[in-house]
Amino acid sequence: MKYWFPTNKKKIKEFHQYFQAYDEDFEYGSQLPECLLRNWSKSKKWFLELFEKNIPDIKACKSAKDNSMTLLQATLDIVETETSKENSPNYGLLLLWASLSNAVPVAFWTLAYVLSHPDIHKAVMEGISSVFGKAGKDKIKVSEDDLEKLLLIKWCVLETIRLKAPGVITRKVVKPVEILNYIIPSGDLLMLSPFWLHRNPKYFPEPELFKPERWKKANLEKHSFLDCFMAFGSGKFQCPGRWFALLEVQMCVILILYKYDCSLLDPLPKQSSLHLVGVPQPEGQCRIEYKQRV
Ligand code: HEM
Repeated sequence: MKYWFPTNKKKIKEFHQYFQAYDEDFEYGSQLPECLLRNWSKSKKWFLELFEKNIPDIKACKSAKDNSMTLLQATLDIVETETSKENSPNYGLLLLWASLSNAVPVAFWTLAYVLSHPDIHKAVMEGISSVFGKAGKDKIKVSEDDLEKLLLIKWCVLETIRLKAPGVITRKVVKPVEILNYIIPSGDLLMLSPFWLHRNPKYFPEPELFKPERWKKANLEKHSFLDCFMAFGSGKFQCPGRWFALLEVQMCVILILYKYDCSLLDPLPKQSSLHLVGVPQPEGQCRIEYKQRV
């Protein structure tokens, strides 16, 4: 079975370079005419061609164990039945960008917040040791049961997402709507800022503080977040990767902290003001010292 993701060094480098160019200008590229951003447009074309060429293989790839589908296969299925086959490469690229560009900075910020709060760091490490043992030498598998026992880590990820939520979510109005007695005409662009909403003390007391315990009140078992938590958007176009994102960031944090004793060498960095769409990146360096746990 052919596997579409590049495996040799040269191809991986090429993939990385195009992804960097695409990610760097995504903010502007997704809003401005493509002719104004030649590099962005070139990288987008490269990815669309890559998806176009590989979609038959991606769809044909079968799980070795059972009949389960990958997230990408399920997404392509929906896109093709609900819209048209022509949209598949675009949706594939959207999935690739949305998954990497948000979850990776969330993993970074979660680690940075945990490490910069000694009491929380201590409690997280006690949790990890109680589930997986004290030394970080063995290879571990993280099961759903383990994650349930490590609820504090889930709260840390959610609290990080609250504080580092996307700056804006935009929607073009397609037909006039009435909101709070105002008529919004079609063609207007509506903007909502999860970042600022999450800093409203009415909904999140002491909003600037990293307080994972505020998530105790959320009914996560019933898949609901705290009121006015909007990092994943809402309604029909809400992020379809939200539960997957939580899962992968929790696992990443657990695996790193199980294996290594980590400490921050730099203060928690500011966030870059260049990113409004998606999770903000750190501005400047933030070095982490790590050594294997024994
Ligand atoms: C913590 C990490 C993440 C955050 C904060 C986030 C946030 C968002 C937001 C705000 C939107 C726009 C929602 C709207 O327009 O109403 C979105 C859309 C989307 N996200 Fe995520 N996301 C994250 C991770 C992921 C992951 C891991 C995946 C895939 C595995 C993913 C896939 C998508 C896709 C495909 C869309 C477009 C949905 C559509 O337009 O129909 N996201 N995400």
